[in-house]
Amino acid sequence: MVKPEDIVFGGWDISDMNLADAMARAKVFDIDLQKQLRPYMESMVPLPGIYDPDFIADNQGERANNVIKGTKKQQVQQIIKDIKEFKEKYNVDKVVVIWIANTERYINVIVGLNDTVESLLASLEKNESEISPSTMYAITCVLENVPFINGSPQNTFVPGLIDLAIQRNCLIGGDDFKSGQTKMKSILVDFLVGVGIKPTSIVSYNHLGNNDGMNLSAPQTFRSKEISKRNVVDDMVSSNGILYEPGEHLDHVVVIKYVPYVGDSKRAMDEYTSEIFMGGKNTIVLHNTCEDSLLAAPIILDLVLLAELSTRIQFMAEGEGKFHSFHLVAAILSSTRHTGGERTIEAACNAGEHTESLHWLGSGKQHDFGIQVKEVERKVEQALVRIT
Ligand SMILES: NC(=O)c1ccc[n+]([C@@H]2O[C@H](COP(=O)([O-])OP(=O)(O)OC[C@H]3O[C@@H](n4cnc5c(N)ncnc54)[C@H](O)[C@@H]3O)[C@@H](O)[C@H]2O)c1
Repeated sequence: MVKPEDIVFGGWDISDMNLADAMARAKVFDIDLQKQLRPYMESMVPLPGIYDPDFIADNQGERANNVIKGTKKQQVQQIIKDIKEFKEKYNVDKVVVIWIANTERYINVIVGLNDTVESLLASLEKNESEISPSTMYAITCVLENVPFINGSPQNTFVPGLIDLAIQRNCLIGGDDFKSGQTKMKSILVDFLVGVGIKPTSIVSYNHLGNNDGMNLSAPQTFRSKEISKRNVVDDMVSSNGILYEPGEHLDHVVVIKYVPYVGDSKRAMDEYTSEIFMGGKNTIVLHNTCEDSLLAAPIILDLVLLAELSTRIQFMAEGEGKFHSFHLVAAILSSTRHTGGERTIEAACNAGEHTESLHWLGSGKQHDFGIQVKEVERKVEQALVRIT
């Protein structure tokens, strides 16, 4: 695995603030630590980024003083140039790009616009408005064969982009970091359902005061987060045919409020109500103070290291004559799914169950892999693995 100290960091931001000033503005690190880090960070200034106010909250507009001009195609060309120059300047072996910018609103997936590789690339040529900045960075990376990870909840990976990644043999992955409330929810619901306790109502309330919170205070960006937070539970419910009838849903409410005073110290409160033996009820209430950025930053670093490693891992399962890579939509980089889910999907992907797996990833819904997955897992367990 790459040593973290060998990584060279660079990137784009629609704000031109240097990283030392951004660190001070974020008020996350202790002042003494900030003083030690300042000399290393003040010369780090982000490159201009792709900005489209239609995709993030209006309240982000005043930060946007560092943007690439031109048509969407010209903006993509600029990002390609930036990646090439970065590689050359620092003489790095590989580049990995991770989206840790604002949550965007959901993209409308439309036939003829972004449903195929051809339609997506044609839409880029035509400067169609419904191509989000995150999708544009992702297109660029796939064209340059640079692994791309999405750390935010929106549907950056429209079907045309997924097909482009497969066509170009480029790894993409990721689906919102799960650092606080949602991570707890994945673990707790998985446990409850696993022991036969049936959650029937989950009410999740958060408030936070950082810039993420301000961006999420707009309904369209909140919607992306809400979908992402709800999906973890939907997957677990739909995959348990013993506790839940087909099509049965539990009551699941997610509220996020922007409270500037608490800054990065996000408060998450959850109430889980479940049905237990003989019609009884069980209620669990949690209060979680999540230091938002400090929980997310190590995940970002891990994802970059894992993405790079994933491009070098190859399998040969029993009965297959040759080694092959992970599926290019790397479920292993998407921490959203319930325990075992990633491994199952990855296994299915590797055994060629592509259509179903991609459908699963694209829609956020779990499909019943059932028996075929058991067979695939058995194969994977016996697979030969090599790292190039
Ligand atoms: N614990 C966590 O912090 C956590 C957990 C899960 C998901 N996330 C997600 O990670 C993302 C980042 O969170 P954050 O707290 O760092 O947010 P932030 O608002 O502090 O930082 C986002 C940065 O992205 C920049 N930006 C916005 N649009 C851009 C664009 N098109 N190109 C380049 N830069 C752009 C902004 O100027 C800003 O500096 C959000 O989507 C958030 O929901 C965070």
